[in-house]
Amino acid sequence: KGISIIGVPMDLGQTRRGVDMGPSAIRYAGVSERLENLGYVVHDEGDIRVEIKERAQTDIDTNLKNLKAVAEGNEKLSEKIDEIIRLNRFPLVLGGDHSIAIGTLAGVAKHDGNLGVIWYDAHGDLNTAETSPSGNIHGMPLAVSLGIGHPALTNIGGYCPKVKPENIVIIGARSLDEGERELIKEKGIKVYTMHEIDRLGMTKIMEETIAYLKERTNSVHLSLDLDGLDPAEAPGVGTPVAGGISYRESHLAMEMLFDASIITSAEFVEINPILDERNKTAAVAVALMSSLFGDKLL
Ligand code: ARG
Ligand code: MN
Ligand code: MN
Ligand code: MN
Repeated sequence: KGISIIGVPMDLGQTRRGVDMGPSAIRYAGVSERLENLGYVVHDEGDIRVEIKERAQTDIDTNLKNLKAVAEGNEKLSEKIDEIIRLNRFPLVLGGDHSIAIGTLAGVAKHDGNLGVIWYDAHGDLNTAETSPSGNIHGMPLAVSLGIGHPALTNIGGYCPKVKPENIVIIGARSLDEGERELIKEKGIKVYTMHEIDRLGMTKIMEETIAYLKERTNSVHLSLDLDGLDPAEAPGVGTPVAGGISYRESHLAMEMLFDASIITSAEFVEINPILDERNKTAAVAVALMSSLFGDKLL
């Protein structure tokens, strides 16, 4: 099966500059070559056009920063994803801030109304305009995909909702806002916080996650926010939170996902080259992608 790479130079879902350069940094770290060396046919589809920040408009009365421009970029992304799945290729999305998961999921879930989602992240990204402490849409994409949020976001792709709460597994959480905690409880979303990762170990977490999703779904999207990892190993992110998942644990998680062959689409987001150390975080992302697609030592 072929892989289509789609860059999304989106930085309007938050306020720190530089995350729009994520796709370039990941390409520079050699993503296509790594995947080709594993035997895949890789199609680099280039970047989705995103409005530039200087011209984006802040919608003050909704507490949603750059709403219009974020919605437009995600609409284009969802159409591109839809097209790639029709071609029977694996969509691999390079971010950009995490608001782009809105468009990715809109495109992917169009093909599977019972889609599973692994949300690998320090955050829940389950805020709404009402609960968000920041107004940043990158803190909202999972809520939006559940159909909770501004209609300009929840209706992207022309349907709503995209995912069911019982088909979601969050891994790596260690920074949740009050409204997010309530939503997790109300919807019964499965969450492995850092506490469970420490206690049970990543092997057990992934075994449980894979069994849980295999029982319920036929296809699973991996949404990997690099801030899920510890900032010591992935420093190039806009909202770092101490005490994260290690490089080795993440590597193991990707290998177990490959062995289970459940992942049918993926995105790697929040890499900010301006905040990074010599492209270290982009290199980590490419190493993790390589394991997700079957790279083994022997
Ligand atoms: N919970 C915070 C907020 O809503 C931080 C969200 C960070 N999200 C991310 N994708 N890095 O603003
Ligand atoms: Mn995050
Ligand atoms: Mn996130
Ligand atoms: Mn390995």
